[in-house]
Amino acid sequence: MISPEIVEEIKYRCDIEEIISGYVPLKRAGSNLNGRCPFHSERTPSFTVFPATRSFYCFGCGAGGDVVTFIMKRENLDYVSALELLAARVGVEIPRDTRTYEEERGVKRERVLAMNREAAKFFHKSLYDKTVGSSALKYLTDRGLSGSVIKHFGLGFAPDGFGALTDHLTKLGYTAEEMSAAFLCGISQKTGRPYDYFRNRVIFPIIDVTGNVVAFGGRVMDDSTPKYLNTSDTPAFKKSRNLFALNYAKSKCADRLILCEGYMDVIALHAHGFENAVATLGTAITPDQARIMAKYTKQVIISYDADEAGQRAANKAMKLLGEVGLDVRVLRINGAKDPDEFLKKNGSTAHERFKLLLDNSRAQFEFKLDGVLSRHDVNIVDERIKAASELCRIISEVYSEAERDVYIGVVSEKLSIPRDSLKNDVKRMMRKNDREQKKEEFKGIVNKTAGFGDRVNPDMMKSTGAVNAEENILGILLLFPENLADIKRGKLDLSEDDFFSDFGKRVFSESLMRCDDTGKFDMTLLNEVFNTDEMGRITSMVIRRRQLTENGGELLRDMISRLREETKRRRSEGDELSQIADILASQRSKLKKNQ
Ligand code: UTP
Ligand code: MN
Repeated sequence: MISPEIVEEIKYRCDIEEIISGYVPLKRAGSNLNGRCPFHSERTPSFTVFPATRSFYCFGCGAGGDVVTFIMKRENLDYVSALELLAARVGVEIPRDTRTYEEERGVKRERVLAMNREAAKFFHKSLYDKTVGSSALKYLTDRGLSGSVIKHFGLGFAPDGFGALTDHLTKLGYTAEEMSAAFLCGISQKTGRPYDYFRNRVIFPIIDVTGNVVAFGGRVMDDSTPKYLNTSDTPAFKKSRNLFALNYAKSKCADRLILCEGYMDVIALHAHGFENAVATLGTAITPDQARIMAKYTKQVIISYDADEAGQRAANKAMKLLGEVGLDVRVLRINGAKDPDEFLKKNGSTAHERFKLLLDNSRAQFEFKLDGVLSRHDVNIVDERIKAASELCRIISEVYSEAERDVYIGVVSEKLSIPRDSLKNDVKRMMRKNDREQKKEEFKGIVNKTAGFGDRVNPDMMKSTGAVNAEENILGILLLFPENLADIKRGKLDLSEDDFFSDFGKRVFSESLMRCDDTGKFDMTLLNEVFNTDEMGRITSMVIRRRQLTENGGELLRDMISRLREETKRRRSEGDELSQIADILASQRSKLKKNQ
């Protein structure tokens, strides 16, 4: 458990504006900041950061909380891990007993990392072992990798056989259970014994930005399948949150990052002086990876394979990368299937020629334009109309009018259609987009206010009046915690029993418990007991009342009596029902007696 003092220290040092803008591009709007919500997809920004209350709230989807909630939700972490991440970022040390903490979470991260390091050493040594590794070394050399590149990336070889690595690690004191958790071995169903997972493969270690060996990729040296085996998620590794070679690229990519599909592409690029290249780990790019890239760079050049699958993947990557505010470009490789092959083909001019490709990479619109034009033969009237309509749709989603104008000009020329008619089409589609988004937002609001599908507070449906009063009260208490202190000292009469919904009761009692007698209270502490959806609701109670001044006393007292009336009314309704039930019961028994 992390003490409230440390939590306060971490939160004090975290600038919510700075941390959130690492994930979401924000624009200043008065005293707050706006951006497009990272938790649902939207065109008009309804995601707001409130520096004054050090919180965020999305008026579209209801996500909200403080910087800790944000990290929990965004990085998909529990309360303690989110605090750890923030603590590391702002340089606060969290004092704790490491062992019991890890036992508590059942995680053996340190063990897995130590084991991976041993495994990487073992694989690397095996590559240079004349009796087992010579064919693997020859394979890598034949593919054009120099000794220094092999060392730089710590490449290795997993010998053929079922016990090479597992025997070695067992000698070092690692258990089968640990090796299996690290994805270094499987467990035989028959004998229950561990066996090597990577066999007869060249090994690409995956190293995270802090220098830990977190995973491995292993490639066969012939045409057998699967071509690559990769470490699945372990206590020390999440595939979706790591990038190959980011440990090297991170300090070379302030301006631009090159994103490839394959390990070999990245290695070849680094070997040719492009040390800003990274690759995903055998999967399509994930939103987490996009956000990680946005932390390190401004521009990403997608350098995927030249085939159709590669271009389709590029399209998807472009969308994800664009959503995190990156300037995205797509490289067009000609005469080779991927960057690795391109570099090899161009011999001594490889660096220069690849540089040219980078400089000629196409921006988003150009790339999409090429896609549309390749699918439609614009000499056929129908096809030309289809192409025009697809392009107008693409342009209608561009935010800047100047940019739209330029694109309309390009399309007008390519398709020989007058600018004005294209312009009208784009306008029409923009209005339609707007209507659709409004509809979506309205749906969201209706669902929330009517209490339908309200997972956070299911009691909402029973009495919106009572719940509204409740939310007013809680909002004021959290905004002006001196009121909580008054309740503690008996100066203000309010108790858990006054609350109508279970959720309200919980928010009240958990907050009261975490407030000291002087009214010192930090909403961050609620992250410990409420999930991120619940935190969103709690934040909305506060944010919606942020215009209140002083301590909200008058409204608070009003709302308390309103809540009591509502609750009383509902109880007496309940009483009437039970009286009626009693009367019916006695009548029934009288009837029986008379029979
Ligand atoms: P490629 O087949 O393009 O591999 O797959 P590559 O890196 O260019 O390798 P070479 O040049 O054939 O040696 C791209 C990436 O997809 C993942 C790997 O991460 C690979 O680097 N992949 C591919 C797998 O995870 N499993 C597979 O079976 C194939
Ligand atoms: Mn390749």
